[in-house]
Amino acid sequence: MLFRPLVGNTLVVLLVLVSVIIEMGLYKKVFKRAVERQVVDHVRSQEDRNRTDSDLRVLSRDGYITGVYYSNWSPYSPRMHFPHDIDIGKVSHVYYAFFLVDGETGGVKSGDEWSDTGMDLYKGLAVKMRKLEGDESDVGVLPRGCLGEFFYLRHANVSRERDSRNFKVVMCVGGWSNRDEFPRMVRDPSRIDVFVNSCIETMFKYGFDGMELDWEFPEDDGYEPQAYLEVTRRLREKMDELEAQIFGSAKDHPKFHLSVATPAFSEKLKILPIKEMDQYVDIWNMMTYDYYGEWSEKTGYHSNLFDGSQGAQDSFERKHMYASEDNEGLNGDSAIQYMLKDVGIDSHKVCLGMAAYGRGFKHVDAKSFNGRFIDKKFRGVGGASEGEKGMWLYNQLPIKGSQEIFDPEYGSAFCYDAKHKTFVGYDNVDSVRMKAQYVKEKNLAGGFWWESCGDDHNNSSRSLLNAFTEEIRSIKKPDTLMYRQSQVLRFYIEKFGTDGYLSPFMERILQSEEPLD
Ligand SMILES: *[C@@H]1O[C@H](CO)[C@@H](O)[C@H](O)[C@H]1NC(C)=O
Ligand SMILES: *[C@@H]1O[C@H](CO)[C@@H](O)[C@H](O)[C@H]1NC(C)=O
Ligand SMILES: *[C@@H]1O[C@H](CO)[C@@H](O)[C@H](O)[C@H]1NC(C)=O
Ligand SMILES: *[C@@H]1O[C@H](CO)[C@@H](O)[C@H](O)[C@H]1NC(C)=O
Repeated sequence: MLFRPLVGNTLVVLLVLVSVIIEMGLYKKVFKRAVERQVVDHVRSQEDRNRTDSDLRVLSRDGYITGVYYSNWSPYSPRMHFPHDIDIGKVSHVYYAFFLVDGETGGVKSGDEWSDTGMDLYKGLAVKMRKLEGDESDVGVLPRGCLGEFFYLRHANVSRERDSRNFKVVMCVGGWSNRDEFPRMVRDPSRIDVFVNSCIETMFKYGFDGMELDWEFPEDDGYEPQAYLEVTRRLREKMDELEAQIFGSAKDHPKFHLSVATPAFSEKLKILPIKEMDQYVDIWNMMTYDYYGEWSEKTGYHSNLFDGSQGAQDSFERKHMYASEDNEGLNGDSAIQYMLKDVGIDSHKVCLGMAAYGRGFKHVDAKSFNGRFIDKKFRGVGGASEGEKGMWLYNQLPIKGSQEIFDPEYGSAFCYDAKHKTFVGYDNVDSVRMKAQYVKEKNLAGGFWWESCGDDHNNSSRSLLNAFTEEIRSIKKPDTLMYRQSQVLRFYIEKFGTDGYLSPFMERILQSEEPLD
């Protein structure tokens, strides 16, 4: 009699212990204890940060877009980069990569469910922050995964400045590794139907402010470019429909964002029906990087703004590179000029891409050294970034023992490691400042990076985001967000039920004291 309950209790205790240990094991995979502490300190210090940029203005109409891509592989070792590591006070758009196209059905799906919506980022974080008023039961209603935390960061009063939480989160569909699926999807009209419906449903379900198409890249086959136009048109149509369902005939409501990750080299850019697509597109995110890499015959900068071989120029008015047939236009300026001058796109819709990573080459033949390491033969590419050959994250550069040099004629930085004859071209603080000037001079929409995890989050004077915002001085942040409208929250709960992904948190927001916009 005496033993039975004891055995029972022991079992329960054991079970609890085992589950705690398993949980901690999983948890440790992402949160080393020290990192967890840093995270809390980091978020808290946002309030007290001794800001060097007190004259940075946040505006809702004027000012520039500052976007970062956030990939759902960022949380994993060795990157260990989380949504709350992003300096949200300085960011207007987070592009969430990737949701994937299934070419067989046309549907879109999460690229990593655990990272997107599964892992619990709040244990030891939200609990300690207690930013949502009330008791600990609040933590249970917070949506999980990186998407959950992004949603939370747009609602929680984390920072002193109210503007901090005004940023859009955009669902990016496709990407390089998913490149074969777009062509399969668009071949079949019924799959296009499925794709469009699936995109809008998924976008809304996970609390995205809009979406981005990232098809790398349509072929010039007389079909795919037109199909891209059709998909863009249909998506905008569906977004309008959804807005009408939610807001009825009301006029001044937030609108879903639609952007295109745009190839920024002549061969793939010139074949797109940009002008026709433009009526449906809010922002053209120019991928002005990856110009040279592992696949190239000779070395080169991968994210240079200019073709420096044209000689030094006093202003940014340069020769229009696409004009000559033999030039591939492997520089940012050519692609931007093409959009503005040849196609006639409103410059306020064009965003300049920057790279928070480098691309490099080993055994560079520098016999005929002329002060630069480009246009040389090489053997192998090296690299320090997992999963991709010849790549280094910016925060891994310059290579130890090498010197970082800025090449103003090309608008790129590089380092050269003489021991391994390794040359890496990348964006540093100087090239980013130059690009910010360019954005201002050309009246562009702003700039963005692939990708957030590569920036230097430890040293503010090396942060690319800081350098950019210090130069542009004003950030354009949305002042009304879709999911801070009470009718959107009510519509969501009605649509997905009380156990929808965001429903419990939305109900909590609707009940809370804090007024919505
Ligand atoms: C900023 O830092 C300086 C030097 O560390 C200090 O003297 C100053 O009080 C700080 N300002 C604020 C507003 O914390
Ligand atoms: C947000 O936090 C600040 C202090 O950090 C506080 O002054 C403000 O009242 C809070 N806003 C709401 C709506 O709770
Ligand atoms: C940033 O600092 C932390 C703690 O000092 C360190 O563990 C981490 O490796 C650093 N990250 C980079 C990219 O240098
Ligand atoms: C931060 O970066 C600056 C500029 O590159 C450098 O001078 C400084 O030593 C760095 N600080 C730390 C703590 O690494």
